[in-house]
Amino acid sequence: MSVADNIAYFTEENSAETVIDRMRDAPDRRLAEVMQSAITHLHAFVKETEPTMAEWEQAIGFLTATGQISDAKRQEWILMSDVLGVSMLVDTINSRRPSGATENTVLGPFHVEDVPHREMGSSIADLDEGEPLTVSGRVLDIEGNPVAGAAIDVWQASHDGFYDNQQPDVQPEHNLRGIFTTKEDGRYWYKAVKPAYYGIPNDGPVGQLLGGLGRNHMRPAHLHFIVSAPGFDTVVTHIFDGGDPYLTNDAVFGVKRSLISDFVQVDDAQKAGELGLPNPFWQVEADLVLAPANA
Ligand code: BEZ
Ligand code: FE
Repeated sequence: MSVADNIAYFTEENSAETVIDRMRDAPDRRLAEVMQSAITHLHAFVKETEPTMAEWEQAIGFLTATGQISDAKRQEWILMSDVLGVSMLVDTINSRRPSGATENTVLGPFHVEDVPHREMGSSIADLDEGEPLTVSGRVLDIEGNPVAGAAIDVWQASHDGFYDNQQPDVQPEHNLRGIFTTKEDGRYWYKAVKPAYYGIPNDGPVGQLLGGLGRNHMRPAHLHFIVSAPGFDTVVTHIFDGGDPYLTNDAVFGVKRSLISDFVQVDDAQKAGELGLPNPFWQVEADLVLAPANA
């Protein structure tokens, strides 16, 4: 009797257990835990779907193309995770907050660091295009007290659905971006333009997948925020335009009911004049509620 006789060789039935057993001496226990789960689910998936060899080769080609189209500027793997709802799931698990606190949603690929600080009430629109919009609200703690010294990092797409870094020849750098700091009353307000809904990149494997599944690649119009203040949990979130046609169909599943606000059209020449805006203009108001750090 040799050692080889005592081994449970790989079979269709024991496939997952056989692979998992090889990890029993893994020095990295967290890696082993994660891979045990991944292998269990992956083998169950293969057993359920029984791919042909041709289908498996197609899948490998798809994953290869996803890597090959990715570079420092384009991250097709993140986009894949986004459209499969995995980014939102990881984000939601990692941003559980007490009720009443503003919910998180996806960061997305268009945030940039080192954006100019702007004076409260000023405009983030460096081009005279699109329909004017005022954005305002308060940064509050969960008891409803104003939070002073909160940094509100904002960015958004233009009136035709592009971020400045997607159109370096059209938009000046930092157009529709800025950082504002709240004072004692916790209030924030700034001028912008009404953003449009837009399509996520769909000229690669993610686009192919969405097409094959009969899914759209659109995101409903939104404003991005990162709100941070000492002693509070940083919130990465959006305000969605409550009138947008893609609200129920966001390609990356970023919409949460609490993040939808009405964009109201104001037809008031006097008010527009006071704000230095053309009449009519759009207005949206939303409070941003911070939970204590480590709540
Ligand atoms: C965004 O909102 O900027 C975004 C989020 C996920 C994927 C693509 C874009
Ligand atoms: Fe966006």
